[in-house]
Amino acid sequence: MSVHGPALTERGRVIEERGPGPVRVTLTVNGAERSVEIEPRVSLLDALREHLALTGAKKGCDQGTCGACTVWVDGRRVLACLTLAVTCEGHEVTTIEGLTEAEGGELHAVQEAFITEDAFQCGYCTPGQIMSAVALLKEGHANDDAEIKEWMSGNICRCAAYPHIRAAIRAVRDNGS
Ligand code: FES
Ligand code: FES
Repeated sequence: MSVHGPALTERGRVIEERGPGPVRVTLTVNGAERSVEIEPRVSLLDALREHLALTGAKKGCDQGTCGACTVWVDGRRVLACLTLAVTCEGHEVTTIEGLTEAEGGELHAVQEAFITEDAFQCGYCTPGQIMSAVALLKEGHANDDAEIKEWMSGNICRCAAYPHIRAAIRAVRDNGS
């Protein structure tokens, strides 16, 4: 048995049985089934950006340290650069584009708050910040600034918009939206 537990064992099995050449992978992204032909080594981030033209999730470090690529898989935050696309078959992937679609084309309350609170400068980290912020509000991890800092600590902003990002999260929390 793998010391890494069932999740990694399962991923290993998926990769062993399919590939190493291109394989057909069906992903459910923002509620729609999308089929792509990719090698099993392709990350979810590259599948989204390079094969599905969903460029909202950003590639910052491509090694799991910046959070710019944050998306949700089954409603939980994941780093798309460290997630193999093939392991997402049968799961619901949600990107920043899906957040707006879920609101009927309107901006989500957190997106509105980022604008109101001036919570970005260059904007490169912003999609990942917003996917994390919405998730932490849902998870109930926005009770105070220390908690917000802790649960947003995986999302780096090189423009240092942190005080404004926290203000945006507080605003949505206090509005109860
Ligand atoms: Fe994924 Fe930086 S691009 S964590
Ligand atoms: Fe520029 Fe965050 S707004 S990196």
